[in-house]
Amino acid sequence: MSKLVVLTSGGDAPGMNAAIRATVRTAIHHGLEVYGSEMGYQGLVKNQLFPMTTRSVANCIQRGGTILKTARCEAFKEKTTRDQVRSFLKEQNIEYLIVIGGDGSFRGAKLLCDEGGPACVGIPGTIDNDIMGSEYTIGFDTARNTALEAIDKIRDTAFSHERNFLIEVMGRNAGFLALDVGTAGGAEIILTPEYMMSAEEIATWLDKRRTNKLASIIVVAEANRAGWSIELSKELKQLADADYRVCILGHVQRGGSPTALDRCMGSLMGAKAVEALLKGATNKMMAYNENQVELVDFPDPDNATRYLTANDLELLRLNRILSE
Ligand code: ADP
Ligand code: F6P
Repeated sequence: MSKLVVLTSGGDAPGMNAAIRATVRTAIHHGLEVYGSEMGYQGLVKNQLFPMTTRSVANCIQRGGTILKTARCEAFKEKTTRDQVRSFLKEQNIEYLIVIGGDGSFRGAKLLCDEGGPACVGIPGTIDNDIMGSEYTIGFDTARNTALEAIDKIRDTAFSHERNFLIEVMGRNAGFLALDVGTAGGAEIILTPEYMMSAEEIATWLDKRRTNKLASIIVVAEANRAGWSIELSKELKQLADADYRVCILGHVQRGGSPTALDRCMGSLMGAKAVEALLKGATNKMMAYNENQVELVDFPDPDNATRYLTANDLELLRLNRILSE
């Protein structure tokens, strides 16, 4: 019987469990033996695999996080560690590997494949939506809705007190979460790493509008500087004499029951990833482009992160009009 290993790596994302469930059940349906690796690549590095059955994934589709647990495993970046992992997988007769994770996890998966590891297909899972080659990653929809719910609540108190708020969202180096959450939440300004405004520019913008707006919401992408909105609020206080309360949404955006979109995407990608492996695919990832789930090459490791493009700038421009 051929053997398949599944793992989740990097930051957890709601919908990963749907992808694990689909992977496990599709693989078993097609006659494979399935094993899990806990805590991402760490399980492989520790040579620890455990068998999974259709029951191992019962009652998990609605749960956030990942039942396989996840980790950032620095050791896997070392070739010697990957060599040891490759030998272990060979000894165990593992033919197939499914890696559910972000662009970093795919860098590792691609290296393992290129160096002679088992046939591998990746499933994009990260709330950042920042994997080159796919317009969607599992977890993004849940995270943007979680952040939006928080903004709606903050808006109530902002209105009542006539207060300004800076709301910082995750997304690492990319502005996808900030753009969607800011647009859907009616933010006056959306700051993303790709299209940033200086404190001076924000102050000027706020000055112009002070006559007709008594409370404003600025959505700030963390831009790989988690917590930097606190500094920004101090600068704005000095420059514009505007008092900003700061709310850093943080890890609340990573948890929670996945939306229907993330469950469907996880289910579809998990099932199709197994079927792709059985048809001989390797060194590939599932992707969602132009409304279709498809199989594409892993991103180039030197260019694996996706960012907002000039097209997205149009939405930022329009949002200025919409928030007048
Ligand atoms: P994500 O997959 O969510 O983007 P990270 O960038 O933290 O998260 O990567 C997750 C894990 O993937 C890392 O802890 C490491 O185990 C592996 N990884 C990341 N980059 C590399 C790399 N260049 N070489 C090998 N493994 C990598
Ligand atoms: O990649 C997902 C993500 O939540 C990013 O948005 C954020 O920058 C990072 O992970 C936070 O990582 P950690 O959970 O290790 O603090």
